[in-house]
Amino acid sequence: MTDVRSGAPPALADPMARVPLSPAKPVPVDQMACAPLSPAARVPVGPAARAPLSPSARTDAGPEAAALALVTDIVAAGRVLVLTGAGLSTDSGIPDYRSPGAPPRSPMTEQEFRSGPVARQRYWARSHLGWQRMGEATPNGGHRALAALEQAGVVDLLITQNVDGLHGKAGSRTVVDLHGRIDEVVCLDCGQISSRAALHERMSRLNPDFGADADVVVAPDGDVEFSDTAAFRVPACRRCAGALKPNVVFFGGSVARPVVDRCFAAVDDAEALLVAGSSLTVMSGFRFVRHAVKRSIPVLVINRGPTRADDLPIVKLDAGCTPTLTAVATALQAL
Ligand SMILES: NC(=O)c1ccc[n+]([C@@H]2O[C@H](COP(=O)([O-])OP(=O)(O)OC[C@H]3O[C@@H](n4cnc5c(N)ncnc54)[C@H](O)[C@@H]3O)[C@@H](O)[C@H]2O)c1
Ligand SMILES: [Zn+2]
Repeated sequence: MTDVRSGAPPALADPMARVPLSPAKPVPVDQMACAPLSPAARVPVGPAARAPLSPSARTDAGPEAAALALVTDIVAAGRVLVLTGAGLSTDSGIPDYRSPGAPPRSPMTEQEFRSGPVARQRYWARSHLGWQRMGEATPNGGHRALAALEQAGVVDLLITQNVDGLHGKAGSRTVVDLHGRIDEVVCLDCGQISSRAALHERMSRLNPDFGADADVVVAPDGDVEFSDTAAFRVPACRRCAGALKPNVVFFGGSVARPVVDRCFAAVDDAEALLVAGSSLTVMSGFRFVRHAVKRSIPVLVINRGPTRADDLPIVKLDAGCTPTLTAVATALQAL
């Protein structure tokens, strides 16, 4: 793709300076996202998209439309790095941890999982009951809009904190699964990666009647409230008989250094960072926002409710991911 830094007109050098939004001023755009953008904001993807917005796009339609137009304009300029969180998948029926009113959760930590067979039995028994519903989730319009923006050449890389695999199912190709994938299993002893679906089959055969009558509510990590787990039989690694763990980073665990390095390099290469559906409470994602701010590239945050970045110089849209991303992709004729 062309180097927009050399090709951009001077007016785009500091896109954040063009609209008088105070840093992180929340702009409710749920309804606004469905309102038509001003014609100036309907720029096609490609070189023409580098043109600055007309002044009318910034002021006449009100601050909300101006904010959406600003986001659209910055995304249109290309080389966008995307960071997504659990809020992107709530419209697919997978709960998050920090939506207003979300029940308090205490997911298993890395240390607890590694503490011994009893903790692992509890995890796998509960997770076995939750897996089916997690596995049935399908991508929503937000996932599809981001895939379309990648297809259109404006999104270079997508980092997701989610473990649900829905970006791939929606068609995104360049995805970093920062916290791993719930549909994979790793052996803690030999490191072999295998399929969760195959493990699910083995578990079902070993525990044919387990939780058959349980009416379970699935938690964000696929866990469920179910206390009678002592009889659950946990399969071992087929290769070395070692202990199996879902291939995800639990709370208290850490992301492999090469993965972190790749993400920092992506921030260095990006012209803008677009965050969607994350409270940024977890440092492993927030550090990329801080790095982007340090580089003075625009940081656009689409999230309902507060985020850890709200005091930083960002553009914040307090809005639903699905309608907002759909509006951006539609305006860029990517959908
Ligand atoms: N789907 C998943 O794979 C999944 C689900 C839950 C948690 N997790 C894990 O837990 C951690 C949680 O951190 P996080 O920051 O990703 O999530 P989080 O729960 O801390 O934050 C989600 C944010 O999204 C907002 N939100 C919810 N629905 C929204 C919508 N439709 N549109 C816009 N905003 C919406 C919430 O108000 C909240 O502020 C992550 O590391 C992730 O790995 C993963
Ligand atoms: Zn093994």
